[in-house]
Amino acid sequence: MTPASAKIPTHVAIIMDGNGRWAKQRKLPRIEGHRRGVETVRSIIDAAREHGVKYLTLYAFSVENWKRPEDEVAGLMTLLDYFLKRETKTLVKNKVRLLTIGRTEGMPETVRTRLAEAKKATAHFTGHTLILALNYGARTEIIDAARAYAKAVASGKQNPDDDSWESFSRHLYTADIPDPDLVIRTSGETRISNFLLMQSAYAEFIFTPVLWPDFSKEEFAAALANYASRERRYGLTSEQVAPAK
Ligand code: IPE
Ligand code: IPE
Ligand code: MG
Repeated sequence: MTPASAKIPTHVAIIMDGNGRWAKQRKLPRIEGHRRGVETVRSIIDAAREHGVKYLTLYAFSVENWKRPEDEVAGLMTLLDYFLKRETKTLVKNKVRLLTIGRTEGMPETVRTRLAEAKKATAHFTGHTLILALNYGARTEIIDAARAYAKAVASGKQNPDDDSWESFSRHLYTADIPDPDLVIRTSGETRISNFLLMQSAYAEFIFTPVLWPDFSKEEFAAALANYASRERRYGLTSEQVAPAK
């Protein structure tokens, strides 16, 4: 038997979906769903840490989400600002390092300032990392990586004949972050919505019908248990990855 701890995913990435539907079911404005969603974010950051998950990525705002109604976008930015203001102390207390992926330069200045402060205050922590995907899109990430790669070739830092994924992936936003082992999407949608396309090449996926504001620590634990029961083969045979004793 493998010890249970050996089956804890190093990196869990979550597509937090269903805030709008949660609010609609209660005849509340969509922003109420987002507000409740922030409470779930808090409890799941805790749960991930308690289970010993080293990296937790949360898809908080996509490049496509700017096209939502103006008041919803503004409300989301205010909530994010409020979250960072309140949460930085907790991250420090719990020794959680904060990172971001995405074109964060496109976020409002107040948010960028808070992000910079929170990152600085938590940069020295090594045990747990929270990664917020903000103004993130996998396609823009590839464009940004290709441009960085081309510049590295032009300046002689990158050998253009080196065709390894390892060299190219150093230019992704996730350069220093291991690939996600488990990707969870809430709300019953079974799509990726432009999230970590390259990094999820061999991730395990769990789609749950639960709406994000209702996603609990128990649901998270159940997802980890489901993950632990799977055999990851990476193109090999079952006999190769789990040789009979
Ligand atoms: C996810 O909930 C939060 C963000 C995308 C910011 P949604 O707002 O997408 O909720 P639904 O999909 O409309 O229910
Ligand atoms: C994905 O959810 C983005 C985030 C969770 C931030 P969306 O609600 O934007 O995705 P679609 O529109 O259902 O594909
Ligand atoms: Mg949605």
